[in-house]
Amino acid sequence: MTSLRIRFAAEQDVSLVLAFIRKLAEYEKLSHDVVVDEESLRASLFGATPAAEVLLAFIGDEPAGFAVYFRNFSTFLGRPGIYLEDLFVEPGLRGKGIGTALLVHLAKVCVERGYGRLNWAVLDWNQTAIDFYKRMGAVLLDQWTICRVSGHALKRLAERNVISSVTL
Ligand SMILES: CC(C)(COP(=O)(O)OP(=O)(O)OC[C@H]1O[C@@H](n2cnc3c(N)ncnc32)[C@H](O)[C@@H]1OP(=O)(O)O)[C@@H](O)C(=O)NCCC(=O)NCCS
Repeated sequence: MTSLRIRFAAEQDVSLVLAFIRKLAEYEKLSHDVVVDEESLRASLFGATPAAEVLLAFIGDEPAGFAVYFRNFSTFLGRPGIYLEDLFVEPGLRGKGIGTALLVHLAKVCVERGYGRLNWAVLDWNQTAIDFYKRMGAVLLDQWTICRVSGHALKRLAERNVISSVTL
């Protein structure tokens, strides 16, 4: 038996976190969307105002998985929550309870901080993960669709001329 340890990532873990991000992107067939590098990741996660937190799971000394999350806010609840951006367990270590341990750890963070809920998105073909999440008590919000504006569309939107007054 080898012990499982979960801890927050520190600045010296940046290359490990980046490796996990790339592995998850590959699994999700989204590697072409990954532009992050060590420098930008270090600045975002360990700069003056960290944009997200990272949990790392280890089996003995072997990196086993990670979770990346950040704080969001629900106006309906009037309370912050957590948005889980990434969850990944090394292929050879899946089905042993590591993913569950990471999610339980995150739920504890949520509860301890008085947050209202834990949200995340999952690709519709990722049935293994969907089944896993349902077993964790997650409800699939089928009536919601994720929206995104990025790249040129984001720039165009930011540059759009808008009204400065309204005739009533
Ligand atoms: C989804 C994922 C994080 C689950 O992690 P995990 O460590 O394999 O999950 P656990 O071992 O805690 O499994 C929990 C349950 O799901 C089952 N399970 C989930 N994934 C499994 C897998 N790949 N192989 C075998 N069983 C799996 C387990 O048998 C277990 O069932 P039980 O609670 O009835 O015993 C992991 O499979 C993974 O990294 N998948 C690829 C990346 C991914 O899809 N991430 C989520 C993106 S939204």
